[in-house]
Amino acid sequence: MRATAKHEPQCEPQLEIIMCGIFGYIGPKENSLELVIKGLQKLEYRGYDSWGVATELDGELFVDKKIGKISEANLDDFKDKKCNFAIGHTRWATHGGVTDTNAHPHFSSDKTIAVVHNGIIENYEEIREMIGKENFVSDTDTEVIPQLIAKYRKEMGFKEAVLETIKKLKGRYAIVVTNVGENYLIAARRGSPLIVGVGENEYFLASDIPAFLEYTQNVNYLDDDEMVIVDGGVEFMNITTGEPIKKRLVNIDLKAESAEKGDYDHFMLKEIMEQKESILRAINQDTDEIMHIAQMIKNSRGCFLSGCGTAGKVCMAGEYFFSLIANRHVNFAPSSEFPVYHHFLRPESLLIVVSQSGETADVLEAMEAAKKKGCKVLSIVNSEGSTIARQSDFSLHIKAGVEKAVASTKAATSQMALLMLIATAMVGELQEGRRLLAEVASQINDMLNPRFLTYIKDVAERIKDHENCYIIGKAENYPMALEAAIKIQEVSYVHAEGFAAGELKHGPIALVTEGTPCISLIANDEVKSDTINNTIELKARGAHIIGISPEKHEVFDDWIKVPDVGIASPLVNIIPTQLLAYYISVLRGLDPDMPRNLAKSVTVK
Ligand code: G6P
Repeated sequence: MRATAKHEPQCEPQLEIIMCGIFGYIGPKENSLELVIKGLQKLEYRGYDSWGVATELDGELFVDKKIGKISEANLDDFKDKKCNFAIGHTRWATHGGVTDTNAHPHFSSDKTIAVVHNGIIENYEEIREMIGKENFVSDTDTEVIPQLIAKYRKEMGFKEAVLETIKKLKGRYAIVVTNVGENYLIAARRGSPLIVGVGENEYFLASDIPAFLEYTQNVNYLDDDEMVIVDGGVEFMNITTGEPIKKRLVNIDLKAESAEKGDYDHFMLKEIMEQKESILRAINQDTDEIMHIAQMIKNSRGCFLSGCGTAGKVCMAGEYFFSLIANRHVNFAPSSEFPVYHHFLRPESLLIVVSQSGETADVLEAMEAAKKKGCKVLSIVNSEGSTIARQSDFSLHIKAGVEKAVASTKAATSQMALLMLIATAMVGELQEGRRLLAEVASQINDMLNPRFLTYIKDVAERIKDHENCYIIGKAENYPMALEAAIKIQEVSYVHAEGFAAGELKHGPIALVTEGTPCISLIANDEVKSDTINNTIELKARGAHIIGISPEKHEVFDDWIKVPDVGIASPLVNIIPTQLLAYYISVLRGLDPDMPRNLAKSVTVK
């Protein structure tokens, strides 16, 4: 849709809860629109409902936005549109319909100011009333931003108008603003990620680093309540005081290829295969730091583990590692539930949060609840400069490399490896822990061979048409049963559920009928025979048993052999379930990298 197109009929405004990716470029390159679209394609995992770009062409605001995936954008449409700056957006919406008009960028009625936004403006209704509802064309909260800037712009400079507008906004935002006639970009953040990439006389403003990684590895992280003005240079300021801020330039140790699919059909498969190396990177940590963290946990009075989705299941596995290896009780709560436990928190408590993106809003809220009670926060993240990392007292980087598929795989095994390493350090067995985990990485390397993949694909073929699938596990493999269920649900839309093996007889077994695929996660541990017995109970009800285990058993209809790695069994048992989820998705004709209704980084509560 062009900015000049006829407006669609006005609907009642709705709060637009968005995750989204935003990207802006300014510099000598004249193909800014193409560059921004290509950058947004690298952020597509953040949202794929609609996309849009804006710049100035022939002295007028040019806006093009449409529903659909940014990966399907036709770059040829933008080849002859020369401009040295542009902004763009790829949207994930839960409220506020997926329409061309609701797509970003949004612009002022006089079509001089365009804005891309990630977050939620809570007082948008009030601002709409103030400006006059009749001036709005979209159903979004975001549109109040360019409208308010335009209103202030009549009385003051562009910079001042943006600052004045930001001061009026309540809620969470990362925004990039541009203005016809004044060829520079302004960005600001509160609660949503925004990073400044600093190249040679050129600058990038993005929700995540892969958007500009091929141009620069040097970044400035914008913190909450900070604004940046980008033209020939960068000028940072505090939004509340208007005072200038000096920022440290950080060099990111990531290669552009790590954010590409390479020879793989999907990022999910590439990332599953990368687990050969990613676990080794995760355990390659500074010994003093690990010992310090082990001591922090030992000294704490009340230690909690928290995360969301897959990271939450990793935390549950951590609960078992700390108990089985370090004889220490650690309490797990999903981050969305954690604040409820605030009565149990005190200054000597420790909260360990686990997050791939380092930006998950529920995790940030859990941290806030802990900090209010004076607790220390340790984070385990995959994004070094992320908000969660920067807001913790201590942060460990798992070094898994860019993870793009919505379904988390390599980050999960790296997080587990690190938690296990810390548990071994707590009992003075760090070196043994390192050796065991290095051995696990090498066993995974052997396991992930083409024959193994073909075999798993065959198993997937046998179960792909079933609408239900159950997974059981006991002890440290119970969280893996829950995690395997998440993987299958999110990429293949098969109804999958994980259960503690022993809980079957208390209800879930009623769900099993002739041929229902049931996956049993087994390790060579003290609960092995219990899990086998529970598997036999399933088989007696007609289940088709897929046994993931180091040893074969007659109860299995399909046996997926995994290496025997003792207490580290969750790290190897989870891998065939990741592959099963992947192949079921592909065989059902779905795109495992972009599951419906989901986003990789969930920056709203
Ligand atoms: C989303 C993703 C999940 C992820 C969860 C937590 O729901 O779809 O794959 O596990 O967020 O994300 P985090 O970045 O905090 O690990």
